[in-house]
Amino acid sequence: MSIERRFERIAAHSHIRGLGIRNGRAEFAADGMVGQVKAREAAYIVVQMIKKGKLAGRAILLAGPPGTGKTALAVAIAKELGKDVPFITLSGSEIYSTEIKKTEVLMRAIRRAIGVRIKDIREVIEGEVKKMEIKMEPHPYNPYQQIPKQIRITLATTSEERSFTAGTEIALSFLQQGIREGDVIMIDRETGRVVKLGRSKEAPREYDIEEETYVERPSGPIIKEREFIYVLSLHDLDVRRARGGTSIMSLFFGTEREEITNEIRKDVDEMVKNWIEEGRAEIIPGVLFIDEVHMLDVEAFAFLNRALESEMAPIIVFASNRGITRIRGTDISAPHGIPIDLLDRLLIINTEPYNEEEIREIIRIRLKEERIELDEKSFNKLVEIAVNNSLRYALMLLGPIKELAEIKGKSKPDLEDIIEASNLFTDYKRSAETVKKYEHLFLP
Ligand SMILES: Nc1ncnc2c1ncn2[C@@H]1O[C@H](COP(=O)(O)OP(=O)(O)OP(=O)(O)O)[C@@H](O)[C@H]1O
Ligand SMILES: [Mg+2]
Repeated sequence: MSIERRFERIAAHSHIRGLGIRNGRAEFAADGMVGQVKAREAAYIVVQMIKKGKLAGRAILLAGPPGTGKTALAVAIAKELGKDVPFITLSGSEIYSTEIKKTEVLMRAIRRAIGVRIKDIREVIEGEVKKMEIKMEPHPYNPYQQIPKQIRITLATTSEERSFTAGTEIALSFLQQGIREGDVIMIDRETGRVVKLGRSKEAPREYDIEEETYVERPSGPIIKEREFIYVLSLHDLDVRRARGGTSIMSLFFGTEREEITNEIRKDVDEMVKNWIEEGRAEIIPGVLFIDEVHMLDVEAFAFLNRALESEMAPIIVFASNRGITRIRGTDISAPHGIPIDLLDRLLIINTEPYNEEEIREIIRIRLKEERIELDEKSFNKLVEIAVNNSLRYALMLLGPIKELAEIKGKSKPDLEDIIEASNLFTDYKRSAETVKKYEHLFLP
């Protein structure tokens, strides 16, 4: 999956910072999460079990109606696990690719979700970011999307200041990690891998940034040899091995095209085990989130069942908004379209429809996140739309609402814009009914 699509997929959940649990209990609204108290408390227990490595051989299922926060919960779980714990998402339908076998797609996802923390002496560029400038340009295949073309940074230590220019990959890395002026960073010279070490104690403090680690401005030269600790996934190592690279780090932003054989994977596993014995590496089992689980078929389920039993396995979190449905590739119906032998290994967490108070709060948070201001009447209308149609639909309208106000030159959207947006864009129920209504005119 492309980097751009990953961005897009998490954008709807950008307000979620964690599960919002205090002393083991879910607060009504905290860390961007609202209501869904039981599910959040259950998810919190899951996080504790994952951290202690006590979930081996089992998996999680988040089950509930559309728009009840299953994906939001998965994102919150990832946030709680911390940034070093890999969190990989895959939608059930993504296994059907024309180029890669289904089980190969799953295998890669599984190995992406297993991290290896490696300690190594590297030549690095390290310093506090004094200045950074990113030049954006339209994506070559998708001109509507802006991607970074070049980054120019000035780094400083207590004794030196230097400027560097780098290309798209490093610039992207800066953007993805949200690196800003005043952060202390380290770049591996050979590969361009960027690590944010924390916020410089010398940098001006910003009030709305939570959970920053503050570090000293580095001393000495900017370019130096240094112990570099970084996390790669087993998949990263597989790709590197497939390309015939020799150094641990001769890898960067892999494509999907390499042929990775079982031999290669066995070699990599052996190599990692050796590093662990030498005290140079450590395994970090991560999470593989598989959304739309009913899209998987028997073959995929059989594969996952086996994977759960293997020595190195990530935690798998499934999500489903279906009830009893056919298991793909069979004539058998089962809860969520999942075979019984897998169901037996699942800890299931249900999500439930929201009440009005919860919907109100979620919309309030999303408005703030998208920097849209509404007067009370307009806000109430939006809540009404969410209650009568769906939360997802109301949230989807935020974009058009903002656009309509802008076209009319207003400083903020009002009731008229909300009504207009909901007339211009229908929800899927209305839309399907409309098509059905005219069907007889078009079908022979
Ligand atoms: N409890 C919650 N707190 C805050 N935001 C939420 C909560 N539940 C859902 N949201 C937000 O509402 C929107 C819809 O929720 P989400 O996509 O997580 O639903 P879902 O259960 O995954 O739906 P589907 O079955 O269609 O995949 C998202 O923008 C999500 O971030
Ligand atoms: Mg979802």
